[in-house]
Amino acid sequence: MKLTPAQLAQFERDGYLFFPSLFKPDEVKTLTDEVPRLYAMDRPENVREKGSRAVRTNFAAHLYSAPFARLSRHPRMIEPVEQIFGEQLYMHQFKINGKQAFDGDVWQWHQDYGTWLNDDLMPTPRAMNVAIFLDEVNDFNGPLMFVPGSHRLGALPAGHDLSTTSYPLWTIDNEAIATLVEKAGGRQGGIVAPKGPAGSMILFDSCLVHASSSNLSPWHRVSVYLSLCAVSNHIRRHKRVEYIAHRDFTPVECLPDDCLQRPYPVELPWEKGTPASALVTSLDALPQGERVAA
Ligand code: SIN
Ligand code: MN
Repeated sequence: MKLTPAQLAQFERDGYLFFPSLFKPDEVKTLTDEVPRLYAMDRPENVREKGSRAVRTNFAAHLYSAPFARLSRHPRMIEPVEQIFGEQLYMHQFKINGKQAFDGDVWQWHQDYGTWLNDDLMPTPRAMNVAIFLDEVNDFNGPLMFVPGSHRLGALPAGHDLSTTSYPLWTIDNEAIATLVEKAGGRQGGIVAPKGPAGSMILFDSCLVHASSSNLSPWHRVSVYLSLCAVSNHIRRHKRVEYIAHRDFTPVECLPDDCLQRPYPVELPWEKGTPASALVTSLDALPQGERVAA
């Protein structure tokens, strides 16, 4: 899937693009049928909400689930990002966020690149998030909120929040958010929240400031996020476990467009469990230019 010049200009201006209903119901079903099995697994890749068994986020399913392995090679997700960066991509992070009915907790205001820079020493923001809604996203189940245009400011000062939720994040303080929202239009468009049916896709810049509130509704808001990094921009440190920040910088090779409708064969290297090496971490920077395969 290729972006038009108008879409490229809109992405440059706003920092995100929204594609309502890009994936058909039968394609989404291939994925949603698999989520309960993944969330029931007793694996470290399932991070649960603070004080609850509800899964906040499941990491790296593309390495142990066939439907998600096929999704991770989907041309509708990969090709637009390759077009924007003009080079091949590797999977920096892959997650299925639960935002479960009644239990889904907040994601504080942040830029993903803040965490990728501070924790993983990713050299530049040449990385992108692509999200697919596996449930309808509405006003009530914690839609993702963006400050349009905030990506143009690059990496903003951030603090390491280790206490608000069960997942550590480099977050932006309230005063800075208030200023950014005001500059982006205040009550007239300073915050936007794309909403739509299951199967909708959002592509958003790694410097775009975003957050989501808790889900007090009776409706789950499960979404999948691919974080795709330009291969030349691979991370330079393994401070975080490998299922959160991947160490295999092999370029993603796309499958055909019908890969959620046909069982194309895929490798599942972590099907039998998380390799011990994935849990080894280090505060040392990798020697310049070194490429380490998983
Ligand atoms: C994220 O910021 O990575 C996830 C936010 C959300 O799922 O609401
Ligand atoms: Mn984020």
